[in-house]
Order: sequence, then C-alpha cells, then structure tokens
Amino acid sequence: MNLKRFFSKPADAQLTPELRARIQSSFDQAASDEEHFPSTIDPRIYHVKLIREHLGELKGRRVLDVGCGKGRFARVFQQQEPEAELWGLDISEEMLRYVPAGIHTRAGSMTELPFPDGFFDSAYATESLEHAVEIEKAVAEICRVVKTGGRIAIIDKNAEHWGRLHTPEWEKWFTPKQLERMLRTHCSQVESRLISYWEDIEPDGLFVAWLAQK
Ligand SMILES: C[S@@+](CC[C@H](N)C(=O)[O-])C[C@H]1O[C@@H](n2cnc3c(N)ncnc32)[C@H](O)[C@@H]1O
Repeated sequence: MNLKRFFSKPADAQLTPELRARIQSSFDQAASDEEHFPSTIDPRIYHVKLIREHLGELKGRRVLDVGCGKGRFARVFQQQEPEAELWGLDISEEMLRYVPAGIHTRAGSMTELPFPDGFFDSAYATESLEHAVEIEKAVAEICRVVKTGGRIAIIDKNAEHWGRLHTPEWEKWFTPKQLERMLRTHCSQVESRLISYWEDIEPDGLFVAWLAQK
C-alpha cells in the first residue's frame, strides 16, 4: 500500500494556485455528470441520517455544508426543516448552480472559509475534505467557523482502504485516528465510526464518519 499519500506531513502538500485551479476546473467539468455527481440523495441513506442525528435540532439554526457540490445533503435537510438556514460552500461554481433555491451558496475554498469565527451553529462535509489538499488547514477552518458547543460531522474514505477506488492525484484519505487527532486540536469531543450506506448493513470499512463537538 502507498502510505505516503496520507501519512505525508502537512507541509508536503500545498494547495498552490495552480493546483487549486486544476481541482476547480476538474469539478466544474464534472458538474454535468449527474451519474457520478448526483444532485439528490435518498434521505434513508445512513450518511444523511447520521449527520442529521448528530447535528440535532435544525430549526432556526445556521448550518454549513462544506464542499457541498450540488447540495444534495442540504437539499434533504432543507426539506426536512424549512426553517433551518442552510449554506453551501464549494470551490466549483458550476457545482453550485445545482444547489436548490433557498440554500445560501458561496464559492471558495474550505482552506480559507469566507466566514467570521463562530458564524455557524454546525457544519458538515461529505466526501469533500479528501480533496482539500491542505487537510489540517481545512479542518481548522471548519472548526473556526462553528461556534463553541456546535456540532461538526465529516464523512470521508478510510486511508486503510486506499487503492480501492480510482482517485485524482490530489486526493487524500485519512485513517480514523488521523482525523480524530486533527479535530481534537479544536474540539472538546471527537469520535469516529465505520459506516455503510444502509444502517442494517455491516460497514465494509471504506467510509468513516467523524463526529465532533467544538
Ligand atoms: C465528491 S464531491 C462531494 C460533493 C458533496 N459533498 C456531496 O456529497 O454530494 C467533492 C466536492 O468538493 C469540492 N471541493 C474540492 N476541493 C474543495 C475546496 N478546497 N474547497 C471547497 N470545496 C472543494 C468539489 O468541487 C466537489 O463539489
């Protein structure tokens, strides 16, 4: 297994303007690919249910979807709780075009979130942190924009299964412990668990959910 990709020091990996433009352009082009980048998700999928459970009450709460893509998770949460204030941030403006009306959108990088400290009640990121390149910086940013006591959920792939899928050259996966450690720098409570798409199916180890409270 090639361990270098996820055990490399943070200083090794930089989101240079060139790499950022390449990632953005790649996702801009992918936006029309509805099969691999769907704009909807079945609300019964455990990834959706677990985030919702972890975030708790959404009514009147301001919630950030980090690397939201077409906003499929925010779409479900908006339908479930129309009085939530949902925001989606993504590096790809083309992806953001698909985000449903009523969800605030912002183009930008999760490594430099364009929001003040503690602006959100909670935040989540699904299969997006793995594209951030400067992972520790992105984790620090996500935690910075959430208020003290707020909840954070991250779902991504497990570095212990690196190689199972085709990945672009900038993508990084993390072990449960690695991301737990990063989150602990900013959060008072952190746990992680293996998850599968369906609650009653034993996880195969590919997906991990990290659940934190600042
Ligand atoms: C695999 S898609 C997942 C999208 C969405 N979270 C979902 O589950 O449908 C990864 C997303 O991360 C976005 N992304 C990649 N690098 C980013 C960065 N540095 N900051 C913000 N978004 C980023 C991409 O544009 C893309 O929309």
